[in-house]
Amino acid sequence: MEIIQYEKTYKILKNNCIVFGIYEDENYFSIFHKINKYITYDIKNILKINDWKKNFGKIILLYTDLKSKYNRVILINCGNKNKFCRNSFFSIIKKIFILCQENSIEYIYINISDFQYYKKNIYWKIRNIIDSYTEVFYLFNKYKTEIKKYIFVKKIFIKINIKKHLLDFKKAVFHGLSISKGIKLTKDISNTPSNICTPKYLVKKSYKIFKKYKKNVEVKIFNQEDIKKLGMNAFLTVARGSSQKAYMSIMYYKNKDAINHRPFVLIGKGVTFDSGGISIKSSYLMDEMKYDMCGAASVIGIMKFLAELNLPLNVIGIIGTCENMINGNSYKPGDIISTMSKKTIEILNTDAEGRLILCDILTYVERFNPKIVIDIATLTGSCVATLGNAASGLFSNNKNLAKKIKKASKNINDKVWNLPKFKVYKKYLQSNVADLSNIGEKYAGASTASYFLSYFAKKYKWLHLDIAGTAWNSGKKKSATGKPVTLICQYFLNILKKYKKL
Ligand code: BES
Ligand code: MN
Ligand code: ZN
Repeated sequence: MEIIQYEKTYKILKNNCIVFGIYEDENYFSIFHKINKYITYDIKNILKINDWKKNFGKIILLYTDLKSKYNRVILINCGNKNKFCRNSFFSIIKKIFILCQENSIEYIYINISDFQYYKKNIYWKIRNIIDSYTEVFYLFNKYKTEIKKYIFVKKIFIKINIKKHLLDFKKAVFHGLSISKGIKLTKDISNTPSNICTPKYLVKKSYKIFKKYKKNVEVKIFNQEDIKKLGMNAFLTVARGSSQKAYMSIMYYKNKDAINHRPFVLIGKGVTFDSGGISIKSSYLMDEMKYDMCGAASVIGIMKFLAELNLPLNVIGIIGTCENMINGNSYKPGDIISTMSKKTIEILNTDAEGRLILCDILTYVERFNPKIVIDIATLTGSCVATLGNAASGLFSNNKNLAKKIKKASKNINDKVWNLPKFKVYKKYLQSNVADLSNIGEKYAGASTASYFLSYFAKKYKWLHLDIAGTAWNSGKKKSATGKPVTLICQYFLNILKKYKKL
């Protein structure tokens, strides 16, 4: 996809379309005045039949003349002008793209000044257009033998009337398309099922992707023996029940102009399939546990974004990957295991495996003397029950870091919500035979899982994102969303903006 700015004349291409945003109080004459250059016939009746008034998001596709099917006009109802906001803009743009897809429209022209809302400059509008495009035009048909012919919007032309907006426009395109590449990669990996995307496949992928960024990215792969030597016993305990071996991949992103010496560290949970182990899951939607590596997939996507933009940062991305399966060697409820930190853990549920992998990696990263650490994990069903797919659960030991992540989520479609940190959770996690138990009590599962992790993240500023509800859409239309790639990318962009490096 290309996003291009144009001034006055339309270069008429095949399969093109012009988009007009219209507020609901505009009367028929003013609408007609806007479009009469393209549509010569009377649309009064069309608007009447289509129940145009008071119908936010109502979309009408018109042909410019009755003989040609190629040049079209989209009218979209933007509702009340005073209520129009970023969310309305995002949902309207999404509707436009869906309509384009259904009608094989390849080129669209948008007069961006039709879409006015408070304080949102051209930069954010373009970013939201690209985000929405990335969401609508994603396909995962690699494993279909009969591929339906599919039309994509190839070019989006944006009319910009004010010259000084041009720089912001260019920046937004550059940032937006790089994030989009990261998301596409994250989705492709996330959607790959566990018979193909094994732990080995995942780390190999993390290696291959960055071959073309050799100047900035170095990838080190740790196999099961290496992990054992490091003393990551909790991590390896999870892997024991599978014939697939555990792996860890560390992606070092470096830049000679980096603003930071101490690295930003990102950690991703990469369970390529979570059967629950001996505490086996029920079979309803168990297939979706192939997505239990979405955290790892998003770390790879974020690293790709950094490399694409060549940002002046030092960032380390780590993924810990294995399967949670059942065999004669599986770990069992009641087992007491040790961790890299030397703390012991009583296993009460083998399905609470993510925290066992993460706790060792959280200990491991101490050696990097990190500036901050963010872990990303599909950690708990409880987080899905609490927040649904509206937001990722956020938990942090540092208010300022949490504030920055929340700020990053402000203008984008990638939200977070605080999980509480009540002292009683400490009691929930007590064990009378080990230092900690691997699960809490019946309720508050998302918070107690985070609380568990916090024991291993005491030496640095740390933030945890539970993406169990946001990383994929469930059910028949199941597909990865690429969250929280945009969020973390935006966090980095905000930092660089503050340092005046963007
Ligand atoms: N990967 C799951 C979390 C999950 C469940 C994500 C459903 C998305 C949808 C995790 O490993 C898990 O099984 N967590 C358990 C923890 C429990 C045993 C304390 C859960 O949430 O049920
Ligand atoms: Mn589990
Ligand atoms: Zn899991």
